[in-house]
Amino acid sequence: MKLWAGRTGGDVDERLSAINNSIGFDSRMYKQDIQGSIAHATMLGKVGVITPEESAQIVEGLKGILSDIDSGTLEIDMTCEDIHTFVEATLTQRIGTAGKKLHTARSRNDQVALDIRMYLAERIDHLTGLAKDLANALCDVAEQHVETVMPGYTHLQRAQPVTLGHYLMAYAQMLLRDIDRLADCKRRTLILPLGSGALAGTTYPLDRPYVAELLGFNGISMNSLDGVSDRDFALELLADLSILMTHLSRFSEEICLWCSWEFKFVTLADNFSTGSSIMPQKKNPDITELVRGKTGRVYGDLMTLLTAMKALPLAYNKDMQEDKEALFDAIDTADLSLSVLDPMLRTATFHPDNMKKAAAAGFINATDCADYMVRKGVPFRDAYAVTGKLVRYCIEQNKTLEILTLDEYRQFSPVFDNDVYPAIDLLTCVSQRNIPGAPAPARVRETIAATRKALQ
Ligand code: ARG
Repeated sequence: MKLWAGRTGGDVDERLSAINNSIGFDSRMYKQDIQGSIAHATMLGKVGVITPEESAQIVEGLKGILSDIDSGTLEIDMTCEDIHTFVEATLTQRIGTAGKKLHTARSRNDQVALDIRMYLAERIDHLTGLAKDLANALCDVAEQHVETVMPGYTHLQRAQPVTLGHYLMAYAQMLLRDIDRLADCKRRTLILPLGSGALAGTTYPLDRPYVAELLGFNGISMNSLDGVSDRDFALELLADLSILMTHLSRFSEEICLWCSWEFKFVTLADNFSTGSSIMPQKKNPDITELVRGKTGRVYGDLMTLLTAMKALPLAYNKDMQEDKEALFDAIDTADLSLSVLDPMLRTATFHPDNMKKAAAAGFINATDCADYMVRKGVPFRDAYAVTGKLVRYCIEQNKTLEILTLDEYRQFSPVFDNDVYPAIDLLTCVSQRNIPGAPAPARVRETIAATRKALQ
């Protein structure tokens, strides 16, 4: 029998229940549902809609339910329609008539909007902590590699020298922005919809700011139709998590590439790698492939909710129940991805020698060679052309710029002297890129310090 039996008999076909019931997924919001109800009942008592005794009885009853669910003494009845009806029915079972007054001046429409906001705010805090951990891991590893020269790429072609420290700190910057976006999303999430009722507010003299204060919200919604039908905060979180996953996916792709024998820039710890059931030699970066793959799920979750919302007339429509599975899936996926990348990165072994070899073979100091000629008075465009010819010569002779003799250099231009060698040394090339944000070791140390500060 349904809580809402009355207008209909309340005896429903089991196939209706199968599509209608949400307790299978919304039970994870039991804590928020109970805390929201405690605040609502406290306020109802304060403004005199129910007596102080009834209010106290309800609050005590709800606290008991919460601690019994937490301890496992009370099992959530998965045949109920949703978590809201389960909590209310259990309360009435336990305390009698007063329990039936909890839902005064409230609808499940504003109740569920409140619960999701509370749940998301909590998850945002948790995800922010995980993102900070990963950003700190990037800082820690980067710090050890501010002088580890490696090729930087454009078009996946070796381009100019950078360091591993600089490379990793690029990802730390992305995470800093992700963390900032989450904080911004949380600010809008903590706007109280309770008091919107089903859609048109209520005739009872509710003290909504008081409820907002009790629950630590930033303010109250200013339109009851919007209060029950706004899911912008949920879309924002899904968009923010999609962007976060994009960053994790790009980082994962780097690790996949760097684990290959073609690169061999990194080896993952055995306990963060997998093997093949047939190929005995294999050690696979499954973690990063999965993070890359799971990114698609989160994009899908965003599309699910955008699509569910796009043509809904005001105010509440049951389509909106679809918000939760999309949100929970995205949150769980981001949680898992952040949690696993942190220890994987911290236990990985990077191979500076291989990075250096790749850097040396790629003519990534060609720009620096041209810049050397510019310092000797050659116009850049001419220096560029000469260096291009030098590179072609090296490729034909199977040599690198570092090992050409001075005689060979002078066949191309008389400006070359012995000081060309330190000028094209890869660490010099990196160190001379010495402006804010550039890869010089001192600059990367600055970025690490600033990032750590921002993470505090
Ligand atoms: N399970 C519903 C949801 O998640 C709760 C609100 C139900 N409201 C209603 N009028 N049936 O959206």
